Formats: sequence, C-alpha cells, structure tokens
Amino acid sequence: ICSQTSQAQRPKPNYDEAKVPKFELPDPLVTADGKQVDSAELWWKVRRPEVLHLFESEVYGKSPAAPQDMLFEVTSVKNDALGGKAIRKEVSVYFSGKKEEPRMDLLIYLPAKATKPVPVFMGLNFYGNHTITEEKDVKLNDHWMRANKDKGIVDHRATEKSRGASASRWPIEKIIDRGYGLVAIYCGDIDPDYDDGFKNGIHAIYNAKQKPTPDEWGTISAWAWGLSRALDYLETDKQIDANKVAVMGHSRLGKTSLWAGAQDPRFALVISNDSGCGGAALSRRRFGETLNVINNAFPHWFCDNFNKYIDKENKLPVDQHMLISLIAPRPVYVASAEDDRWADPKGEFLSVKYAEPVYELLGTSGFGAKEMPKVNQPIQKQMGYHMRTGKHDVTDFDWQQYLDFADTHFKGS
Ligand code: GCU
Repeated sequence: ICSQTSQAQRPKPNYDEAKVPKFELPDPLVTADGKQVDSAELWWKVRRPEVLHLFESEVYGKSPAAPQDMLFEVTSVKNDALGGKAIRKEVSVYFSGKKEEPRMDLLIYLPAKATKPVPVFMGLNFYGNHTITEEKDVKLNDHWMRANKDKGIVDHRATEKSRGASASRWPIEKIIDRGYGLVAIYCGDIDPDYDDGFKNGIHAIYNAKQKPTPDEWGTISAWAWGLSRALDYLETDKQIDANKVAVMGHSRLGKTSLWAGAQDPRFALVISNDSGCGGAALSRRRFGETLNVINNAFPHWFCDNFNKYIDKENKLPVDQHMLISLIAPRPVYVASAEDDRWADPKGEFLSVKYAEPVYELLGTSGFGAKEMPKVNQPIQKQMGYHMRTGKHDVTDFDWQQYLDFADTHFKGS
C-alpha cells in the first residue's frame, strides 16, 4: 500500500463550509463516451455497469463470485427467546464448505407470532453478536477484535463483560414488535479489521498465494461480500422473506451496507447510518474526513487504486452520489447526526440529492428535497434522509425512521 503519511503530516480536517472547494460532480446520467442516459434501458445496459465497474476498480475493489459449496449449520434454536416474543437462531456459515475457518456466525431473531416468512433487517456489528443482546446464552464470539476496554475486549478477544455492550444500537424488541426479524453478524468473522496484508479472514481463502491486485477487494468489499453470503443463507430459511431484506450499517459498516446494496440487487432496501467518507458523503467536498486521512488511517478498507485520488478528488471518475444511484430504484435511506461533522452530514445529504435523477429516470418518487431538512425532520420517499441531533451513534430515533421507512416499502403503509 502506497503513500502512508505520519500522523504529524496529516492535514487538519476542514469544518468551515466557506472553505469547501468548488467542484463539479461526474454525472451519473452521462456515459463514459458522453451520451446522455435518457432511458431506463440505457441505464441498465450501459451506464449502470460502467459505474459499478468504476467503484469496483477504483474505490472498493472487485470481489470474487460466491463459493460453490458453502456449509450452513444451525447451531442453536430457542423458541421462547426475549420472554417468549422471539424465535432465536444461531447459524454458522463455513465459506469453504468444510467445518474450518473462516467461519461467520449469524444471530437471528424472528417474531414468534409470525404466520408467514418475515421481512428482516440485517446488519454487521463491531464486537460480536453477543454484544447486541442482553441474553446471556448467545454464543460468545471467538474471533479477533479491535482493542476496546469499555466493550470488554481483552487481548483482542471478547470476554463475558462484553455481553450486551452494544445493545443500545440494536432495539431488538422494538424490531420484533413491529413484525420484523433481525440478522446480526460480526464483521471480523468475515475479515478482521486491521491491516494484516490480507492474510486472514476470507482473504485467507482467496489471497493465500497473492495479495489482492490494486483493483481487487479490500476489507469493505470483503464485508459486503459476506453480507451477500449471509443473504445466500437467508434464501434457504423458510421463516424469512428473502425478498424483503433491509441491509443496515453504521459508520464503516454503513459504507459497507451501501456497497453491499449497490452490488447485490437482492437487498431490497439499504440503510446507511452516519457512514461518512467512503460511504454516503461526497469525497469532493473534503469536509471532515478526507481520502487522505481515511486511506492512511485504514489502508486495508479500500482497494489500492483509491490512493491515486488522495488530494486529487476531482480526478475520481465517480463520487459517492453515484454509489447511491447504483441502488436505484430500490429504497435507500441515509442518516446523519448533527454533531458528527467528521462524517459530513451535508455531503451525505447531497449524495442522496444528486442520485435522485437516476431514481426519477427509473420511475420512482425520488427524494423531493432540494435543501437540507432541519434536524429531526426526516424525509421519506423512495429515498430517505434525516439529520438527528446528537453524536456519531445509532439511536432509537434512527431506528424509528428505519422501521417507518420499511413499513412503507415492505408493507405498503
Ligand atoms: C473512524 C473513521 C470513519 C469511520 C468510523 C467508524 O472515525 O475515520 O471513516 O466511519 O471510524 O467506523 O466508526
């Protein structure tokens, strides 16, 4: 990985709107050879594949196809979880088809009273599935984790103390009460979140002999790939409506949910919570976190080609509004937090706005907002957005909006 800069050399983040540089965004509706995309057919046949390819080769890196013979093993079922209101299952996914690493564990909660397959939210988490719930009999994750004493991580492993440590971000009972299921996965089961030269996680299977080329997958692509493999499992589970899976992620995992939804049209609804740079925020604004900062702090997240655009954002053939356009016409929701300036709320809003022409071309209700809404005033059409008060986090307010949005698109209310 090229161009590592030391902490001292790193530029200070800009938080002054007046200092945002002037820029011109690439047009999602003009093809590489300059043709205006004026029909859905031209979008699907020419422009969408072009844009998808650019994100693969220049931003996140291309991922391999699904493995031929994955093994799914249901390791526990509890029919009276959460005081009787939920069915809880744990499922291990063995990527190689054999009972060996790498292995990804799914924690699934479903409404016990459901009489037909249910729509679900699916999301990656930062410290293991046992951190999202207070239930003590969920398996404690056994894989490597980033250091975090507050979350009960000791020597890069989860301890009993970490149970429920992230439960505030996952209001499971509310989700169940509203008729949805929840599927949780620890991101590090797929690829541990550190720069190890692509030797561990899923990269160990595919990159044992050679590290990824500059246009091949980094960690965000690996995580997104893992989400699609989880969806492969959901398609086999008769209690789940695999046509109604909303993929949701926060921060680095929100960057991931957008990229997963962009690549895999089976995700019926896509939610980005405070995803920021390399997620929903426009790179060209250089507000808060920039490509320079992110590629140096997290060199393993993106493909190596992304380094070419450090301090040269105008040379990028895409910007993040085009990532959102790849999700069209499926419903997409982007959320920001007022105090999360690092993630550039305005840049996140603008990405939705500038992706709208694609949603309109494909005949949806689009977005409709020209200006940023006031805090805590969600916009919900085919595209959704809010900026809530508070910091970088996932709150009940955020979930309230996601559940309402899912009701509109999955239940037609
Ligand atoms: C860092 C990083 C962000 C990222 C965030 C997170 O702040 O700079 O890009 O979104 O971590 O994942 O919490």
